[in-house]
Amino acid sequence: MLIDTYGRVATDLRVSLTDRCNLRCTYCMPEEGLQWLAKPDLLTDDEIVRLIRIAVTSLGIEEVRFTGGEPLLRPGLVGIVERCAALAPRPKMSLTTNGIGLKRTAKALKEAGLDRVNVSLDTLRPDVFKTLTRRDRHHDVLEGLEAARDAGLTPVKVNTVLMPGLNDDEAPDLLAWAVENDYELRFIEQMPLDAQHGWKRDGMITAGDILTSLRTRFELTEEGSEQRGSAPAERWLVDGGPHRVGVIASVTRPFCSACDRTRLTADGQVRTCLFATEETDLRVALRAEDSADEEIARIWKLAMWGKKAGSGLDDPSFLQPERPMSAIGG
Ligand code: GTP
Ligand code: 5AD
Ligand code: SF4
Repeated sequence: MLIDTYGRVATDLRVSLTDRCNLRCTYCMPEEGLQWLAKPDLLTDDEIVRLIRIAVTSLGIEEVRFTGGEPLLRPGLVGIVERCAALAPRPKMSLTTNGIGLKRTAKALKEAGLDRVNVSLDTLRPDVFKTLTRRDRHHDVLEGLEAARDAGLTPVKVNTVLMPGLNDDEAPDLLAWAVENDYELRFIEQMPLDAQHGWKRDGMITAGDILTSLRTRFELTEEGSEQRGSAPAERWLVDGGPHRVGVIASVTRPFCSACDRTRLTADGQVRTCLFATEETDLRVALRAEDSADEEIARIWKLAMWGKKAGSGLDDPSFLQPERPMSAIGG
């Protein structure tokens, strides 16, 4: 079991498969991209499957989320999913993606055993998409979303970050569109995890702003805490249901006390939190000559003892982690 000093148990593993991305969202990375991880530093497909096997069979992990950067850029993704689906117990598996290329792979991912996907989409306007992501790929994302829904990778969730002056007027339109298309929309408060360190608390759109905007057009009824469990998203029924809308308010309403996560970066480091400033190397143990599963499990368990109570965002001495979100795995 992966338990921390506050008694929280991690049952959800987030695995970053690459730090690369084919978009350049302004709240994430600069136009020119980043210094990507070197190929020899990346875990191989075999190493990833081995770590997930250890996590599932010895450490109590029940759910695996593949993230990036953009995980669809990893050539071995379908094979990794297929091999993880064969594990006993079989973990639940999901993918968080920007949707580009999903049209091509949705069916194969479903057949390999992926359960569902979350797709990032911040706007319904192609021109705003181009400004926000610095790429003209709006149509590809919409096609990817439809393909995911048609392949049964459901519920398909859509993640939206609202940026002042760019898309912050779109919340009700996005919700109307999501309800019509049967996607579960969630708004995410912008977090200080951008490579440029440009985040400002004063400028961000808060959960409060989002709810006020949505209520100009919809009636929202809050879901009970029992249904929320340890999910980062608070959810509301839209106009009495059955559709829901979520808000992930990591900044103004943190949910750290219920956190059930542990993370693995594409270069084999355990992170106990998105905002952790320390990492624990599993790659060395993986590549050691006498590498043993028991030793890897022991190191992972020990890493969890360093998990902090919270993100520290409200702490005056808060320091943004060195790695940006794209290299941590959102
Ligand atoms: P599901 O609702 O189960 O699909 O998962 P999810 O919402 O956690 O997944 P997703 O990958 O779509 O993440 C949505 C947003 O939540 C992203 O911006 C993540 O960075 C953020 N997020 C995920 N895990 C954590 C966490 O442990 N702490 C915080 N503060 N944010 C998180
Ligand atoms: N703050 C909030 N959300 C972010 N994402 C990427 N960077 C940030 C940030 N700084 C979102 C992406 C994606 C999800 C994994 O995280 O848009 O939907
Ligand atoms: Fe790529 Fe996601 Fe970062 Fe956008 S937020 S640039 S889609 S990793």
